[in-house]
Amino acid sequence: MKTTLVLAMTADGKISDVKKSPPTFGSKRDYAHLEEQIMSSDVVLVGSGTLKDGGGGVETNPALIQARLAQGKSAQPPQIICSRSGDIDPTLPFFSQSIERWLLTTKIGAVDWLERTSFDRVLVCETADGKDIDWQAAKVKLAELAVENICFLGGAELAASLFAANFIDELWLTICPFIYGGSAAPSPVAGVGFTPELAPRLKLLSVDQVDQELFLHYQVQ
Ligand SMILES: NC(=O)c1ccc[n+]([C@@H]2O[C@H](COP(=O)([O-])OP(=O)(O)OC[C@H]3O[C@@H](n4cnc5c(N)ncnc54)[C@H](OP(=O)(O)O)[C@@H]3O)[C@@H](O)[C@H]2O)c1
Repeated sequence: MKTTLVLAMTADGKISDVKKSPPTFGSKRDYAHLEEQIMSSDVVLVGSGTLKDGGGGVETNPALIQARLAQGKSAQPPQIICSRSGDIDPTLPFFSQSIERWLLTTKIGAVDWLERTSFDRVLVCETADGKDIDWQAAKVKLAELAVENICFLGGAELAASLFAANFIDELWLTICPFIYGGSAAPSPVAGVGFTPELAPRLKLLSVDQVDQELFLHYQVQ
């Protein structure tokens, strides 16, 4: 199974502004790159914070939809929302989109959703204390559902958990020509941080400059 984190970042290392608005700094080329990554994956993984801040949703590129259908896949990959608490607003536009929705959560987080039809699947994979996701168990469960490629779209809190759990294999990072500033504006990975000794190391696989943007492709070592 391969998990690829796909993010766009300003030149000063922000993935959003201080108001946590959905990012608008990527070009059309960056959006096309994001769509390609999403549509070539088996599932998309998104943190509940990103969903609340306006992320998640269907892709509309007809060629990519046709390519999926020709391969016998669904028109859109299922989107997995990750939440410990299950505290998600069921009136978000995401829930009225024509897309398969899964929830990855704890037993407590699942309680409000088991009787509802908002999520097509509720996957419970919790640690022994019930407070967090057991990522190894999640991997096993996803493998049982024939998931081989996961496209992870952030945000920063979930990325911290996934790097700590060694769950991310590759990273696509687009550096966009803006400076957002703001100490409260999120960078790609939040959490408590890593000591330099334990910091995940990356191997640079490729760098492409397209107009004013840099597309960096890394492997997590
Ligand atoms: N530029 C980009 O490419 C890009 C991409 C994505 C997001 N963003 C931006 O990033 C911001 C959102 O990032 P964020 O860090 O605030 O939120 P986030 O990482 O999307 O979501 C955080 C939530 O995810 C859940 N979570 C985190 N770790 C978990 C774990 N180990 N187990 C289970 N659930 C876990 C928790 O949900 P519960 O609280 O529900 O338990 C947590 O509150 C937004 O501003 C968004 O626009 C930018």
